[in-house]
Amino acid sequence: MKIIKNMALLLMLVLPAAIVAETETDTDTAEPVESAPPPPATVEEIAAGVCAGCHNADGNSVVPMNPILAGQHAEYITKQLMDFKATESEPAKRNSAVMSSMVAALSAEDMKKLGEYYAAQKVNPSQVPADEKMIDIGKILYHGGNISNGVPACASCHGPNGSGIPPRYPALAGQHAEYTITQLNLFNTGDRANDNDVMHKVITRMSGQEKRAVAAYISTMR
Ligand code: HEC
Ligand code: HEC
Repeated sequence: MKIIKNMALLLMLVLPAAIVAETETDTDTAEPVESAPPPPATVEEIAAGVCAGCHNADGNSVVPMNPILAGQHAEYITKQLMDFKATESEPAKRNSAVMSSMVAALSAEDMKKLGEYYAAQKVNPSQVPADEKMIDIGKILYHGGNISNGVPACASCHGPNGSGIPPRYPALAGQHAEYTITQLNLFNTGDRANDNDVMHKVITRMSGQEKRAVAAYISTMR
């Protein structure tokens, strides 16, 4: 009886050691794999494997809070990806909990190629229906601005057809209104400040209704 008890005690002492030994061997065998360079992922693989869940494989997001990337200028996309990424010395220039984790593992080369990839896709504009009255108000504002409160015409920087002016001024045409309104509000509060204050100055004078109207019009631009 005493022997059995002792054996049990011995097993209890030995077993954890055996488990530790096993896990150690596991990491030993895993190590060479970890230190080997990962197989190069192509942009198509990154776009399909990481980004497609929210932006669709071709960048034509159908979820109104996720931006459509297809047809956007390559330089602008690359800049945004770099701005989402925090470095050791600097915090991210554009805050987004979702996107900062998405770009954490991307290299500068990946970001450049992702920009080129989405720029080359054909845009499939927002299909979310918009209120006709809002579209009309937004159209006037987009092309002419509002002299009474000093809001400049969006067309002067984003182009009369919303295709933007590369590399600095992004295309807006066909973007989901929900995403556009979110960005206008973020520029307004200063939570998005990676634009050298340009959009912040444009937006501070806009009313809530003007923001919704211009976003509605932008979503219908083709
Ligand atoms: C879980 C959903 C999700 C995934 C996955 C995701 N994104 Fe995003 N992405 C978003 C959201 C939401 C925003 C808007 C962020 C904001 O402004 O707050 C965004 C914004 C962006 C923008 C800025 C677009 C603009 O017009 O300024 C780019 C570029 C972008 N994403 C590229 C990518 C790429 C490339 C990947 C894959 C490596 C990716 N995203 C993966 C949700 C996602
Ligand atoms: C003086 C030039 C200028 C004017 C006028 C201007 N914008 Fe912009 N806008 C910019 C710049 C520059 C950026 C890019 C900021 C960056 O690099 O992140 C931008 C970015 C944006 C974005 C973000 C796009 C995205 O994909 O995330 C939206 C939305 C936008 N502008 C809407 C408007 C609207 C609506 C108006 C008119 C009321 C307007 N802008 C007028 C310069 C301008």
